Amino acid sequence: MATLLELKNISKEFPGVKALENINLKIEENTIHALCGENGAGKSTLISILGGIYPLGTYEGEIYLHGERVKFRNPKEAEEAGIAVVHQELSLFDELNIVENIFMGKAIVKGVSIDWNEMIKETQKWLKKLKMENENVLTKVKYLGSAKQQLIEIAKALVKNCNILILDEPTSSLTENETKILFDILKELKSEGITSIYISHKLDEIFELADTVSVLRDGKLIDTKPISEVKESDLIKMMVGREINQMFPKRSYIPNEIVFEVSNYTLYEKYDPQRKVVEDVSFNLRKGEILGLFGLVGAGRTELMTSIIGFNSSNKRGKIFLNAKELEISSPRQALELGIAYLSENRKNLGIFPNLSVRQNLSITFIKEFGSYFKISEEDEIVEALRMIKQLNIKASSPEANITTLSGGNQQKVLLGRNLIRTPKILIMDEPTKGIDVGAKQEIYSLMNDLTSQGISIIMISSELPEIIGMSDRVIVMHEGKFMGELENINHDLTQEEVMYLATATEGGGVF
Ligand SMILES: Nc1ncnc2c1ncn2[C@@H]1O[C@H](COP(=O)(O)OP(=O)(O)OP(=O)(O)O)[C@@H](O)[C@H]1O
Ligand SMILES: [Mg+2]
Repeated sequence: MATLLELKNISKEFPGVKALENINLKIEENTIHALCGENGAGKSTLISILGGIYPLGTYEGEIYLHGERVKFRNPKEAEEAGIAVVHQELSLFDELNIVENIFMGKAIVKGVSIDWNEMIKETQKWLKKLKMENENVLTKVKYLGSAKQQLIEIAKALVKNCNILILDEPTSSLTENETKILFDILKELKSEGITSIYISHKLDEIFELADTVSVLRDGKLIDTKPISEVKESDLIKMMVGREINQMFPKRSYIPNEIVFEVSNYTLYEKYDPQRKVVEDVSFNLRKGEILGLFGLVGAGRTELMTSIIGFNSSNKRGKIFLNAKELEISSPRQALELGIAYLSENRKNLGIFPNLSVRQNLSITFIKEFGSYFKISEEDEIVEALRMIKQLNIKASSPEANITTLSGGNQQKVLLGRNLIRTPKILIMDEPTKGIDVGAKQEIYSLMNDLTSQGISIIMISSELPEIIGMSDRVIVMHEGKFMGELENINHDLTQEEVMYLATATEGGGVF
């Protein structure tokens, strides 16, 4: 095998942080090379250097492509050298359509005019490969769900005809099916001679896809190995620097009184009031319980929960009871006042305030809206914010650092911290470990156990079956907006098949 890309002594510093230290790495031609490491290990920084986002002069060390030194001064030069990057955070323009987004900055020109027909044809070709051929290429991307947006982002990289494709956590908002489609494409590209660098926190993906794996920890390269020579436990140990024996810490939960109840909840589509997004869903939640809400992406779980906390104003029908008292919740703020907190899955749109510091992001809802309500001072908030940074092990150069300087996973922890800073009674966690590394995942699970042992009740929306089974005391399953069933799981002994059966079941039986 020939070396395609070589990094020599790459170092990069941000004020107060050594993001990368002396990285020496070879990427062999025609392989899929996985890059692993904890949140903040330096993965995205490294590929931003390769993609020309951090130009020559902003880092130390050298990059060689086919044995020749390359000096990218901007993303365009990296692209011209055949490197295409799908970044961790979506970079699409909401108001533009699919074709415009895909060809942003590189329109096909015929003579003096833009060749729309050719661009549409090319877009359709890639959408077909991504099994999205039913999508109208002139649809504005804001009307697409996050999974489809992610696929468009991937298509945008693919039209570049690259020979090195770099993907930074591309599957964090994809369903199992879409992930499979992506994997098939990556394998096909490999057979056509394209090399990929693949970043993911999902170890099963790495074992399925990669030929080689490199692990970063605290900005240093720990090791590079052929995947056939590592076991999952080795990989975790390389990443975290310690063994993790028990991913899901033991829970001790004894069924308690019902604290929250939703009955016959139906939610109508905002722009199509005839269509039901959620249909006649009823469930209850007990004190100190973790209730898992499972379903495939698109099952209506997020819509149900955001509607319950008063986030969207669409038409709804049904009843909500808190401690047996019927309630109308008209805004997330009111929900918070009642002690119901919602941790969003979508940190970019609903989560972070990009102009503010880590500390301000932790405490903002309370300072701005609740300061007087809870009679808390700014000093208290600073103390609380610092406590959260410590408790959640948030990696930031300082509490005053801008939130956007944190790695993706650490931003997610800030959002979780924001919801915990004033202890809620009910915590709704929407995909709480999305984009979070194995070590931090286990920390979050332990924290969930701590919270429930203090009497807090948790509703956990998750698409990850091991997490649903490992953590939930009871599981409810939704499919296409409908309630499919409830499963007891107090001994955490449900099987993936039992849950999956309900999640995919249609009349006449599911896939199993
Ligand atoms: N623009 C920036 N300014 C200051 N510090 C930064 C900036 N970008 C990244 N960092 C810091 O550099 C380190 C590496 O971050 P990076 O985003 O590369 O991590 P990562 O491995 O991609 O993590 P994750 O899995 O959470 O995405 C972190 O400590 C992060 O806080
Ligand atoms: Mg990253």
